[in-house]
Amino acid sequence: MTLQRIAADQPPLATIASIGDHVGQEVTLRGWLYNLRSSGKIAFPQLRDGTGIIQCVAFKKALGAEAFDVLTHLGQESSLVVVGEVRADDRAPGGYELKISRFHVIQDAKGYPIAPKEHGPAFLHDHRHLWVRSRRQQAILRLRHLSVQAIRHYFDSRGYVLFDSPIFTPNACEGTSTLFETEYFGRPAYLTQSGQLYQEAGAMAFGRTYCFGPTFRAEKSGTRRHLTEFWMVEPEIAFADLDDIMDIAEDFLVEIVAFVVDKGRRHLETLERDVSRLENIVKPFPRITYDEACAQLAGLGVPVEPEDDFGSPHETRLTQEYDRPVMVHRYPTAVKAFYMKEDPANPARVLGVDVLAPEGYGEIIGGGAREDDLDVLIRKIAEHRLPQEYFEWFLDLRRYGTVPHGGFGMGLERFVAWICGIPHIRETIPFPRTIDRLTP
Ligand code: 4AD
Ligand code: MG
Repeated sequence: MTLQRIAADQPPLATIASIGDHVGQEVTLRGWLYNLRSSGKIAFPQLRDGTGIIQCVAFKKALGAEAFDVLTHLGQESSLVVVGEVRADDRAPGGYELKISRFHVIQDAKGYPIAPKEHGPAFLHDHRHLWVRSRRQQAILRLRHLSVQAIRHYFDSRGYVLFDSPIFTPNACEGTSTLFETEYFGRPAYLTQSGQLYQEAGAMAFGRTYCFGPTFRAEKSGTRRHLTEFWMVEPEIAFADLDDIMDIAEDFLVEIVAFVVDKGRRHLETLERDVSRLENIVKPFPRITYDEACAQLAGLGVPVEPEDDFGSPHETRLTQEYDRPVMVHRYPTAVKAFYMKEDPANPARVLGVDVLAPEGYGEIIGGGAREDDLDVLIRKIAEHRLPQEYFEWFLDLRRYGTVPHGGFGMGLERFVAWICGIPHIRETIPFPRTIDRLTP
């Protein structure tokens, strides 16, 4: 590792996250200048190193006039190595302060575009490659990372096999209106909208599988809930019915929320998230049918068109009524995907479920029981005007040892937006892709 040496007797390297282990000692920190206040004799540079931000203090007398002058004229985001003594100080943000005894500038950065003041969202998104250095964005993206850890841990510790679905596919899984088409050596191909169909092959092979990767939808409207590229985790379970799928989705959400709250508390505090709302996420989640939800929505003054899917206003209003996720099941067959199993008690309804997050967040999970009957599935593929020849492999799963099965998909960004309590999902992914944004 190349370490910028200030002197032969350089003190040990430390990180800001673990600075509390070094109180009273001299350490070396490497990072970037986050902010700086100074008067004629004393300066308070804030240093960030990716693990946190620490306030430093530098005295002109101790550093010498020349070095003090260099330090106090550094631009925001200048890269530097500092050596100093760690002091516990209740008045310092974070509780510790570093008294700088010497430093080495790697680069004096001038004109950093994101000043510590308010900028509009378009400007910030244009500078996303730099914006990710800010305290708030770091908190959100660390919570995203913790969410991924929680999700993987949930499935890995319960015998699910990671079974990656392909990204190039000839199949439309979630309807043909949001397909991204590309040319694949002279043939058309699509970027996957969902890994589900391949998970069904996985579940018939391993019993329980999951995939977790990027999925793509050509969403033609720019809403706060839609990206064109988003990450989805999709478990699939053999020998399961709709109730089993709802039990698993509920258990999964309770566990991953608790994990993220436990490990990410300080990031949630940075975001000023009301953590008590997340601590409320315990079993059981209310389970209501689509028809019950429609009646409730009519009473709340936001009626749903008969047999129509919910729009954002319905989900927002309905979930404001609940302090935990609500599971809405048995949607109209006409508005759901071809693979959903019809309710034997009422073929106008499918055995599907959406899990809607509280506080107005709305749908974070979609899933349910899959059509496991070969003839019905062939009929549904035709009704949805999908080309059966590309689904022959999928139909094989019904020809050879079909069983009741199901699963669900959770959009990572929607989950993270809810956890963070932020209005728009575009801040929950390092580089968001929407209808009007392909850069940076
Ligand atoms: O409800 P959806 O369309 O369900 C499926 O794709 C199923 N095949 C999943 C399965 O059963 N294996 O999408 C699942 C979830 C949604 O609940 C939402 O969280 C997320 O994916 N999602 C999006 N997230 C961000 N931007 C978009 N454009 C999204 N579309 C769906
Ligand atoms: Mg859905």
